[in-house]
Amino acid sequence: MPIDWSARAVGQSQRLHPYVPGKPIEMLLVEKGLSKAIKLASNENPHGPAPSAIAVLKQAAESVHRYPDGDAGDLKQALARKHKISTENIFIGNGSNEVLELMIRTFAGNGDEVIYSERGFIVYALAATAAGAAGVAVPEADGLTHDLHAMVASVTSRTKVICIANPNNPTGTLHDASAIQDFLDALPRGLVVILDEAYYEFVADKIEDSINALQHPGLIICRTFSKAYGLAGLRVGYAVGDAEILGLVNRFREPFNVNLLAQKAAIAALDDTAWVQKTVAKCKAGRQRLETALEEWGVLGGKSFGNFVLLRHQEAAFVLQKLEDQGIIPRPLAPYCMPDYLRITVGTAEENNRLLAALSSILGQAADVA
Ligand SMILES: Cc1ncc(COP(=O)(O)O)c(C=O)c1O
Repeated sequence: MPIDWSARAVGQSQRLHPYVPGKPIEMLLVEKGLSKAIKLASNENPHGPAPSAIAVLKQAAESVHRYPDGDAGDLKQALARKHKISTENIFIGNGSNEVLELMIRTFAGNGDEVIYSERGFIVYALAATAAGAAGVAVPEADGLTHDLHAMVASVTSRTKVICIANPNNPTGTLHDASAIQDFLDALPRGLVVILDEAYYEFVADKIEDSINALQHPGLIICRTFSKAYGLAGLRVGYAVGDAEILGLVNRFREPFNVNLLAQKAAIAALDDTAWVQKTVAKCKAGRQRLETALEEWGVLGGKSFGNFVLLRHQEAAFVLQKLEDQGIIPRPLAPYCMPDYLRITVGTAEENNRLLAALSSILGQAADVA
């Protein structure tokens, strides 16, 4: 008799589905028999890491026979200097994904509720389920923005954590600091509030810096080195918030969760503000160009404040397939119950040209790709 492992796994495993990442380039090349493809599916920085971070990585490669600093002390110090806060108010994770999971695992378990927006970043739902808690998905307001009032109204005595992403992935929507502060003021004091700012650097000139502007005892702000800083492959993210909350989360952390190369490169990238600003500016110019074209063609899925744009088309699956045929990988949004949308990361100018040319032929429209 074969063993029924499924029956032996914890109950919530039945309700979990693995996260589906953007299709890897290598997979598409094999599938389509192509020699070249571009990936615009995971909101990475197409301009790569800062040259100073690459130099540090080459040097640090000689030390990888050693364990990293389990506390990521130097990186915490660098972040503390940058944000003018104490190191005890910082937690470093293996990507902000790990921070989100550990936060939810620390505060929500069986019988508890975790609130998030229906089209909020999907990891909140996965992490809540993995922790054995019940996820409460609140429908968006008009324009696909988080309905902050409805989220507050959904809080019950069982709610332990509430998550918002600003800007949100995949909808690209943004709330200003005063709307977020009103939301925080309406929440009970004992709630852990995760403000996920993975795309903060793309709106830093638009909204106040939440780390110093927002107030709530349970507020935990998460940021990442994966997007504007171009270090997605190294996996580093961090949280800023109350020292006692982060101390509790630290109990669930594995001893050496952030690797040595990641710690060193993150410090170098953080120092290289000129590089980050330059790549963010290029990304915003590229986003503007893509959104203008999509709007002209009547397929813009809404204004995005992240490093990605939204395409909306009744035949999104067809558009996806045609783009992939031409070696371009966007992200289908069916897992977010948005089957008529594709999310497309802003690429380099050359990648954007290629995308627009492909879309132009697919949509049967003319594009100015000059
Ligand atoms: C809103 C949001 N939060 C968190 C993450 C996780 O990023 P990472 O784990 O690479 O820091 C992502 C990645 O796409 C994201 O879009």
